Amino acid sequence: MPLRIAILVSGHGRGSNMAAIIDACQHGEVDAEVVLVIGTRREAPALQRAAEKGVPTRVISPRNLGEEEYALRLLRALGEAQVHLVCLAGYMRLLPVAVVQAYAGRVMNIHPALLPLFGGKGMYGEHVHQAVLESGLKVSGCTVHFVDEHYDTGPIIVQRCVPVEEGDTWQTLAARVLEQEHQAYVQAVKLFAEGRLRIEGRRVHILPPKPS
Ligand code: GRF
Repeated sequence: MPLRIAILVSGHGRGSNMAAIIDACQHGEVDAEVVLVIGTRREAPALQRAAEKGVPTRVISPRNLGEEEYALRLLRALGEAQVHLVCLAGYMRLLPVAVVQAYAGRVMNIHPALLPLFGGKGMYGEHVHQAVLESGLKVSGCTVHFVDEHYDTGPIIVQRCVPVEEGDTWQTLAARVLEQEHQAYVQAVKLFAEGRLRIEGRRVHILPPKPS
Protein backbone atom coordinates (compact mmCIF):
# COMPACT_ATOMS: atom_id res chain seq x y z
CA MET A 1 0.00 0.00 0.00
CA PRO A 2 1.51 3.39 -0.93
CA LEU A 3 2.27 5.83 1.87
CA ARG A 4 -0.87 7.68 2.95
CA ILE A 5 -0.39 11.42 3.45
CA ALA A 6 -2.54 14.12 5.03
CA ILE A 7 -1.79 17.79 4.44
CA LEU A 8 -2.77 20.47 6.95
CA VAL A 9 -3.36 24.03 5.79
CA SER A 10 -4.55 27.17 7.56
CA GLY A 11 -7.16 29.84 7.06
CA HIS A 12 -6.26 31.70 3.92
CA GLY A 13 -3.55 29.35 2.64
CA ARG A 14 -3.24 29.39 -1.14
CA GLY A 15 -1.90 25.82 -1.09
CA SER A 16 0.94 25.89 -3.61
CA ASN A 17 3.11 23.50 -1.59
CA MET A 18 0.10 21.28 -1.02
CA ALA A 19 -0.55 21.24 -4.78
CA ALA A 20 3.09 20.38 -5.51
CA ILE A 21 2.89 17.35 -3.21
CA ILE A 22 -0.47 16.20 -4.59
CA ASP A 23 0.77 16.56 -8.19
CA ALA A 24 3.99 14.64 -7.49
CA CYS A 25 1.94 11.78 -6.02
CA GLN A 26 -0.69 11.81 -8.76
CA HIS A 27 1.98 11.87 -11.50
CA GLY A 28 3.82 8.92 -9.97
CA GLU A 29 6.94 10.91 -9.07
CA VAL A 30 6.40 9.94 -5.44
CA ASP A 31 5.00 6.56 -4.46
CA ALA A 32 2.39 7.94 -2.06
CA GLU A 33 -1.17 9.17 -2.01
CA VAL A 34 -2.55 12.35 -0.47
CA VAL A 35 -5.70 10.93 1.12
CA LEU A 36 -6.85 13.99 3.06
CA VAL A 37 -6.39 17.76 3.25
CA ILE A 38 -7.48 19.33 6.52
CA GLY A 39 -8.07 23.07 6.75
CA THR A 40 -8.87 25.30 9.68
CA ARG A 41 -11.46 27.32 7.71
CA ARG A 42 -13.88 26.38 5.01
CA GLU A 43 -12.95 29.43 2.89
CA ALA A 44 -9.31 28.40 2.48
CA PRO A 45 -8.42 28.55 -1.23
CA ALA A 46 -6.21 25.50 -0.63
CA LEU A 47 -9.25 23.34 0.18
CA GLN A 48 -10.91 24.29 -3.08
CA ARG A 49 -7.70 23.51 -4.95
CA ALA A 50 -7.41 20.09 -3.26
CA ALA A 51 -11.02 19.24 -4.09
CA GLU A 52 -10.40 20.14 -7.75
CA LYS A 53 -7.58 17.61 -7.73
CA GLY A 54 -9.93 14.98 -6.37
CA VAL A 55 -8.49 14.89 -2.86
CA PRO A 56 -10.96 14.60 0.06
CA THR A 57 -11.00 17.65 2.30
CA ARG A 58 -12.18 18.33 5.83
CA VAL A 59 -12.48 21.42 7.96
CA ILE A 60 -11.46 21.13 11.58
CA SER A 61 -11.57 24.56 13.13
CA PRO A 62 -9.71 25.11 16.39
CA ARG A 63 -11.98 28.09 17.11
CA ASN A 64 -14.02 27.66 20.24
CA LEU A 65 -12.28 24.36 21.01
CA GLY A 66 -9.75 23.74 23.74
CA GLU A 67 -6.39 22.37 22.62
CA GLU A 68 -7.34 18.90 23.85
CA GLU A 69 -10.57 18.71 21.86
CA TYR A 70 -8.92 20.15 18.75
CA ALA A 71 -6.15 17.52 19.04
CA LEU A 72 -8.71 14.75 19.47
CA ARG A 73 -10.58 15.78 16.35
CA LEU A 74 -7.38 15.94 14.33
CA LEU A 75 -6.26 12.54 15.62
CA ARG A 76 -9.63 11.01 14.85
CA ALA A 77 -9.59 12.33 11.26
CA LEU A 78 -6.00 11.19 10.69
CA GLY A 79 -6.76 7.79 12.19
CA GLU A 80 -9.90 7.28 10.11
CA ALA A 81 -7.97 8.10 6.94
CA GLN A 82 -5.15 5.73 8.02
CA VAL A 83 -2.59 8.46 7.55
CA HIS A 84 1.06 7.67 8.04
CA LEU A 85 2.68 11.02 7.19
CA VAL A 86 1.36 14.49 8.01
CA CYS A 87 2.62 17.47 5.98
CA LEU A 88 2.05 21.00 7.25
CA ALA A 89 1.88 23.41 4.32
CA GLY A 90 1.08 26.98 5.28
CA TYR A 91 -0.33 25.72 8.59
CA MET A 92 0.15 28.78 10.78
CA ARG A 93 -0.50 27.32 14.22
CA LEU A 94 1.51 25.24 16.61
CA LEU A 95 0.35 21.66 16.09
CA PRO A 96 -1.15 20.30 19.34
CA VAL A 97 1.43 18.36 21.35
CA ALA A 98 -0.78 15.24 21.39
CA VAL A 99 -0.64 15.11 17.59
CA VAL A 100 3.11 15.74 17.48
CA GLN A 101 3.60 12.90 19.95
CA ALA A 102 1.23 10.47 18.23
CA TYR A 103 2.99 11.12 14.90
CA ALA A 104 6.54 11.56 16.21
CA GLY A 105 8.99 11.58 13.29
CA ARG A 106 6.04 11.57 10.89
CA VAL A 107 5.09 15.25 10.70
CA MET A 108 6.91 17.61 8.34
CA ASN A 109 6.74 21.36 7.82
CA ILE A 110 8.18 23.79 5.30
CA HIS A 111 9.65 27.14 6.26
CA PRO A 112 10.64 29.87 3.78
CA ALA A 113 14.14 30.51 5.17
CA LEU A 114 17.30 28.66 6.09
CA LEU A 115 16.56 27.48 9.62
CA PRO A 116 17.68 27.83 12.35
CA LEU A 117 17.82 31.44 11.10
CA PHE A 118 14.63 33.48 10.77
CA GLY A 119 12.28 31.00 12.42
CA GLY A 120 10.04 31.01 15.48
CA LYS A 121 6.70 32.45 16.46
CA GLY A 122 5.57 35.31 14.23
CA MET A 123 8.15 34.49 11.56
CA TYR A 124 6.06 33.75 8.53
CA GLY A 125 5.61 35.15 5.01
CA GLU A 126 6.56 38.79 4.66
CA HIS A 127 8.13 38.91 8.14
CA VAL A 128 10.67 36.24 7.24
CA HIS A 129 11.70 37.73 3.92
CA GLN A 130 11.89 41.28 5.32
CA ALA A 131 14.11 40.06 8.13
CA VAL A 132 16.39 38.33 5.63
CA LEU A 133 16.67 41.52 3.53
CA GLU A 134 17.35 43.65 6.62
CA SER A 135 20.04 41.24 7.83
CA GLY A 136 22.11 41.86 4.71
CA LEU A 137 22.51 38.13 4.11
CA LYS A 138 23.40 37.27 0.52
CA VAL A 139 21.54 33.95 0.49
CA SER A 140 18.18 32.71 1.66
CA GLY A 141 16.25 29.56 0.93
CA CYS A 142 13.83 27.11 2.43
CA THR A 143 13.86 24.30 4.95
CA VAL A 144 11.78 21.14 5.24
CA HIS A 145 11.99 19.79 8.77
CA PHE A 146 10.33 17.32 11.09
CA VAL A 147 7.96 18.97 13.53
CA ASP A 148 8.52 18.99 17.27
CA GLU A 149 6.63 20.82 20.02
CA HIS A 150 8.03 24.25 19.10
CA TYR A 151 7.96 26.57 16.11
CA ASP A 152 10.52 25.68 13.43
CA THR A 153 12.98 23.79 15.63
CA GLY A 154 12.65 20.15 14.57
CA PRO A 155 15.37 18.13 12.76
CA ILE A 156 16.16 19.45 9.28
CA ILE A 157 15.47 17.14 6.33
CA VAL A 158 16.16 19.19 3.18
CA GLN A 159 17.32 22.74 2.53
CA ARG A 160 17.69 24.69 -0.69
CA CYS A 161 19.41 28.04 -1.22
CA VAL A 162 18.62 31.00 -3.42
CA PRO A 163 20.64 34.19 -3.86
CA VAL A 164 19.43 37.47 -2.42
CA GLU A 165 19.68 39.79 -5.40
CA GLU A 166 20.33 43.49 -5.74
CA GLY A 167 16.99 45.32 -5.77
CA ASP A 168 15.06 42.44 -4.17
CA THR A 169 11.82 43.28 -2.39
CA TRP A 170 10.30 40.80 0.02
CA GLN A 171 7.93 39.79 -2.77
CA THR A 172 10.63 39.02 -5.34
CA LEU A 173 12.65 37.12 -2.76
CA ALA A 174 9.54 35.20 -1.61
CA ALA A 175 8.79 34.18 -5.21
CA ARG A 176 12.34 32.90 -5.74
CA VAL A 177 12.20 30.94 -2.48
CA LEU A 178 8.73 29.53 -3.22
CA GLU A 179 9.92 27.86 -6.44
CA GLN A 180 12.51 26.01 -4.37
CA GLU A 181 9.98 25.18 -1.65
CA HIS A 182 7.91 23.11 -4.04
CA GLN A 183 10.92 21.07 -5.10
CA ALA A 184 12.32 20.69 -1.60
CA TYR A 185 9.01 19.51 -0.13
CA VAL A 186 8.47 16.94 -2.86
CA GLN A 187 12.05 15.73 -2.40
CA ALA A 188 11.57 15.33 1.37
CA VAL A 189 8.28 13.45 0.97
CA LYS A 190 9.85 11.19 -1.66
CA LEU A 191 12.77 10.38 0.64
CA PHE A 192 10.32 9.58 3.44
CA ALA A 193 8.20 7.41 1.14
CA GLU A 194 11.32 5.51 0.13
CA GLY A 195 12.19 4.90 3.78
CA ARG A 196 15.43 6.83 3.40
CA LEU A 197 15.23 9.22 6.36
CA ARG A 198 16.73 8.32 9.73
CA ILE A 199 16.50 10.77 12.61
CA GLU A 200 19.41 10.77 15.04
CA GLY A 201 19.11 13.55 17.59
CA ARG A 202 19.05 16.80 15.65
CA ARG A 203 20.36 15.23 12.46
CA VAL A 204 18.39 13.57 9.74
CA HIS A 205 20.50 11.08 7.81
CA ILE A 206 19.62 10.47 4.18
CA LEU A 207 20.18 6.83 3.40
CA PRO A 208 21.22 5.61 -0.05
CA PRO A 209 18.45 4.35 -2.36
CA LYS A 210 17.41 0.78 -1.62
CA PRO A 211 18.33 -1.66 -4.38
CA SER A 212 15.26 -2.37 -6.51
C1 GRF B 1 5.09 28.89 2.35
O1 GRF B 1 5.95 29.96 2.12
C2 GRF B 1 5.63 28.00 3.44
O2 GRF B 1 7.03 27.99 3.51
C3 GRF B 1 5.06 28.60 4.69
O3 GRF B 1 3.79 29.08 4.32
C4 GRF B 1 3.76 29.33 2.92
C5 GRF B 1 2.63 28.54 2.35
O4 GRF B 1 2.44 28.79 0.98
N1 GRF B 1 5.04 27.64 5.77
P1 GRF B 1 1.50 27.87 0.14
O5 GRF B 1 0.13 27.93 0.80
O6 GRF B 1 2.06 26.48 0.16
O7 GRF B 1 1.48 28.44 -1.23
